[in-house]
Amino acid sequence: MTLARRAFVIGGFNTPFIGKNHPDFIWKGHADFGKRENPTLEELITTAVRGALAATGTSASAVEKAWIGNFVGELFVNQGHLGAAVVGADPGLRFKPVMRVEGACASGGLAFQSAIDAIQGGTDVTLVVGAEVQTTASARQGGDYLARAAHYRRQRSLDDFTFPALFALRIREYQKAHGLSDEDLGRVSVKAYSNANKNPLAHMKAVRMTLENASKASMLNPAFLSNAELAPYIKVSDCSQVSDGASALIVVSEEGLRKLGKSASDAIEVLSVATATGDLYEDGDPIRMEVTEAAAVKAYAGAGISASKVAIAEVHDCFTIAELLMYEALGFAKAGQASGLIREGRTEIEGDLPVNTGGGLVGFGHPVGATGVKQVFEIWRQMKGLCGDYQVPGAPEIGLCANMGGSDKTAVVSIFANR
Ligand code: CAA
Repeated sequence: MTLARRAFVIGGFNTPFIGKNHPDFIWKGHADFGKRENPTLEELITTAVRGALAATGTSASAVEKAWIGNFVGELFVNQGHLGAAVVGADPGLRFKPVMRVEGACASGGLAFQSAIDAIQGGTDVTLVVGAEVQTTASARQGGDYLARAAHYRRQRSLDDFTFPALFALRIREYQKAHGLSDEDLGRVSVKAYSNANKNPLAHMKAVRMTLENASKASMLNPAFLSNAELAPYIKVSDCSQVSDGASALIVVSEEGLRKLGKSASDAIEVLSVATATGDLYEDGDPIRMEVTEAAAVKAYAGAGISASKVAIAEVHDCFTIAELLMYEALGFAKAGQASGLIREGRTEIEGDLPVNTGGGLVGFGHPVGATGVKQVFEIWRQMKGLCGDYQVPGAPEIGLCANMGGSDKTAVVSIFANR
């Protein structure tokens, strides 16, 4: 939609995303096991909220409304009702309207959409939070919890790891239709890990990935599905991480900028946000992301720009194939041609269209409710030159985020301009 009232992101805060293979993640073999514990959902939410308020110099009392994106707190940590958990981060938030928003892995994007809608309705200062803890369960148990983002009754039996199986199917069909090579998929993974290696907040900051390892299944990189038909199509290196983390943003109107003593140069402007939703009970075309495409068409129209104007993007690479399908859904490549972008290095940090510069969901990590909020924060940080070792050259003028829930069932696409 075209925004009737201008909206700006003035900054935020991201906790580190951690989980298995992160040096600070406390697992049974860690030297600090028994002495130290991983941050809880409550601690992550509090850290992100306080961090965003402090980083932007916003007092909690100035916040008029807030949202938190979270998918399944009830299953991973026995905790729902997270609007009230946001209030627990700062007494200044007491008695404000704070709501949890859920759209599977697009929960964070929907929280951001909610803030923009509220600004259109006259709200001036908003807080947007996203958080998830997933490492309380094994990856296999987590596979069952995450399967609630699919049509559980029909799709759960595909594999214990339902989502990796759903995307293995997309890989198989895309390979049949367009001849995608294992090396091209491997290149998506190598880019994600190599960007994450430059990002101190990334889950996979300490894990190296070579093209040789990423391109074939091995003991180091198992094809882990039990579904024999789909198992050959996906490996651990193609998957996003099971991560814990939180992210928060302060999003304001023009009047909000004035109230907080900020100028447009502190901010990035939100040119448009569009959400599209597909039918949970239908599978759709496995080689396209039709819902993301529908959201993108609306977002480009709202912003009055075409895909060729995008200078930097954060896209939902829950699996390596998803990044390639997103290139096509967002108009960065024609159908069947996404792998050309990755092969030519165009979406690397030094390329002409850098994508997922902090590592994306495969490298930075994927605490599902936090992801859509983190994506927006990443665009703000890149546009303000704050990304350190993974900073893109120059200050990108137009940025895009695409956050997706389920197997392309809820999509939120937002477009930003650097001011
Ligand atoms: N050969 C065969 N199988 C092997 C193996 C080998 N050499 N090594 C391991 N495995 C199997 C094992 O069976 C193991 O399971 P069990 O231990 O329960 O038997 C399984 O692979 C996983 O191994 P690990 O537990 O050691 O692997 P891990 O902890 O490193 O996890 C992963 C790897 C399974 C890929 C995990 O990272 C994962 O599940 N990632 C995807 C997370 C996900 O799906 N997120 C949601 C994305 S979808 C989205 O974004 C949209 C939405 O709305 C949900």
